[in-house]
Amino acid sequence: MPEQLSAPAATMQAAVCPRYGPPETLRIRDVPRPSAGEGELQVRVRFSAVTPTDCAARSADPATARLAFGLLRPRNPILGGLVVGEVAQVGGGVTAFSVGDEVIAETGAALGAHARYARVRAAGAVARPAGMSGETAAAVADGGLTALPFVRDHARLEPGQSILVNGASGAVGGAAVQLAAHFGARVTGVCSGANAELVASLGAGEVVDYTSTEFTRLNRRFDVVFDAVGKSSYARCRRLLKPGGAYLTTGPGAGILLHSLLTAAPGGRRARLALTGLRSQEARAADLAVLTRLAGEGRLVPVVDGRYPLERVRQAHERVETGRKRGSVLLTL
Ligand SMILES: NC(=O)c1ccc[n+]([C@@H]2O[C@H](COP(=O)([O-])OP(=O)(O)OC[C@H]3O[C@@H](n4cnc5c(N)ncnc54)[C@H](OP(=O)(O)O)[C@@H]3O)[C@@H](O)[C@H]2O)c1
Repeated sequence: MPEQLSAPAATMQAAVCPRYGPPETLRIRDVPRPSAGEGELQVRVRFSAVTPTDCAARSADPATARLAFGLLRPRNPILGGLVVGEVAQVGGGVTAFSVGDEVIAETGAALGAHARYARVRAAGAVARPAGMSGETAAAVADGGLTALPFVRDHARLEPGQSILVNGASGAVGGAAVQLAAHFGARVTGVCSGANAELVASLGAGEVVDYTSTEFTRLNRRFDVVFDAVGKSSYARCRRLLKPGGAYLTTGPGAGILLHSLLTAAPGGRRARLALTGLRSQEARAADLAVLTRLAGEGRLVPVVDGRYPLERVRQAHERVETGRKRGSVLLTL
């Protein structure tokens, strides 16, 4: 009987991280293209972001990253969570999207976005609004998807309340400043002097330069302190909180977990860590819709530190690792 020849599997270029290590560990390789399964989309990626989370997933620093990304090596060697591009293939059961639709989505813990094609859950995708560039969509989603749950759901700001945002020039902090101002709060941003103008332009009524002023010693009280770069602690910031105020941080650690438990009783000052990456696909899609609406209305402006083609993914990681990026480091594909 003649041997049946199957079509060669479609391949694509991807940034591959075969083992934990420095940015030089990353390789551009041809790998099999992921196809869309039930409830999924295959997206031709045009923009993604390189984030501190990607750097942790590449370097296993902190060591707890191994619990999330793989004990011995990255479980998925293709990193990246944010996908902005067009639908190339629609999986079974998906009715909301068609081939050619422009979408924004997150791959979540599955990663796989730093490639020419990525597979995403259709439930986590939203249509990119007509007239919004892919770059704007990527920059408001990166940062915004973390900042929105913190500022809206955990800070629960009322108009006129006050919030201090530490790391206000980063992707998360910059989005938090804009969202808090949008919710009617008075915003104090903490950053280095070089970024003071940027942070003021995003909506901070007051900017504190941490290189000359230790913000935890400010003689003021806030309804919310949000440490968007996770460099402080509840113990150091507690004195900044009004009675009933909230300390929120993006940085996991034993201290914040302990203080979350110790401040769990209602009424008093509270300390909270949120892991926004663990939220459901549906919750993230709903937030993407909010963020793109605000961006369309000009209430959320994209802040882009730099753009790197896939071939320069190592340089993008190096830039993120400086801890100095302003807004988002985008990958263009
Ligand atoms: N909990 C979660 O679910 C979650 C989700 C996503 C991200 N994250 C975490 O959120 C953090 C922020 O992410 P990102 O993308 O916004 O980070 P980022 O963009 O890398 O933040 C860099 C910014 O932080 C500022 N900065 C650095 N050191 C500072 C300090 N000591 N005090 C105040 N500002 C400082 C820098 O400004 P200057 O140059 O002016 O210092 C820079 O603009 C990361 O640690 C990430 O891992 C957590």
